[in-house]
Amino acid sequence: MIKNTSFDNKAPILEVKNLKKYFETPSGMLHAVDDVSFELYPGKTLGVVGESGCGKSTMGRAILRLHEPTSGEVIFEGQDVLALSPGEMKKKRRDMQIIFQDPFASLNPRMTIYETIAEPFLIQKVYRKNEVEKIKVEVLNLMKLVGLAERLINSYPHELDGGRRQRIGIARALALKPKLIICDEPVSALDVSIQAQILNLLQDIQDKLGLTLIFITHDLSVVKHLSDEIAVMYLGMMVEKCKAEDLFKNPLHPYTKALLSAIPIPNPDLPGNQITLKGELTSPIEPEPGCRFAKRCLYATPGCTGRDFELKEVGKDHFVACILYDNTKNQQEA
Ligand SMILES: Nc1ncnc2c1ncn2[C@@H]1O[C@H](COP(=O)(O)OP(=O)(O)O)[C@@H](O)[C@H]1O
Ligand SMILES: [Mg+2]
Repeated sequence: MIKNTSFDNKAPILEVKNLKKYFETPSGMLHAVDDVSFELYPGKTLGVVGESGCGKSTMGRAILRLHEPTSGEVIFEGQDVLALSPGEMKKKRRDMQIIFQDPFASLNPRMTIYETIAEPFLIQKVYRKNEVEKIKVEVLNLMKLVGLAERLINSYPHELDGGRRQRIGIARALALKPKLIICDEPVSALDVSIQAQILNLLQDIQDKLGLTLIFITHDLSVVKHLSDEIAVMYLGMMVEKCKAEDLFKNPLHPYTKALLSAIPIPNPDLPGNQITLKGELTSPIEPEPGCRFAKRCLYATPGCTGRDFELKEVGKDHFVACILYDNTKNQQEA
């Protein structure tokens, strides 16, 4: 089946507008997420990539209000999520879920698979605790969906391998039939041999249930095949966003180019062409206005500092925040 990649004629399921999340630190405000905007359409997967510490997890958590955003808007199915009361937000979490990197850390070691997967039904009061038969049917269905054998129902997380533990995390996230799942490095803690199984599982489930995914990873090769679009983050900002195939064929931002050049090339006969990033890292604490990548950028000019750069559409569905593609620069030069 050819995947429908047309973004036309549908309203976005999620609109993130100027989202900021700053943390107070002893040295000043840390700009973990700094003015991020994007739209995501139903049934699609947005891959979010960038180095460790660039704000991927904080962005995911801010969208779900697990970290309360500093400012901005999160519109889910036309509704402003940030305006919801705590009670309303709790209900909304049925539709918006998260899967974490390390299932061992996110699973309660004292709860069996049954108890772990049953818990969301109890928290959201879908069933009462004594409705054991009904809950068990749900738990067994979910275990089947994620490929966990029925006999494991009373096992504890420490009795299982990493892949099975992540399957529990996925089953739990799916329990209340969410529409959007934010997957935060769901395979990064797993053995390479198991990573592909979990990625395939997520894709199968997405196709079956029509889920919308945000897939966060520091590893571009992981999102290459499963994303419709990929957004590249650098120090709290989105610097490029486009269809997945365009990112690999035609990367525009110098940081994206550097990131792509760091993907290991399996054929040893091919030249590496690896771009090594030099230069001082900009601090995320109270950064000066200007491109956050400028200090490490091969193409930096004095114009890269002094003002922030917004994502601009420079080709169909291809957005980049860089002076090299910025119209304002052309106007100033004209
Ligand atoms: N609770 C917190 N308090 C203070 N700083 C934080 C907190 N969580 C994350 N940060 C900082 O925010 C930035 C982004 O972190 P994070 O979102 O975890 O990045 P990533 O997921 O891309 O590795 C980092 O500089 C990190 O140190
Ligand atoms: Mg993270």
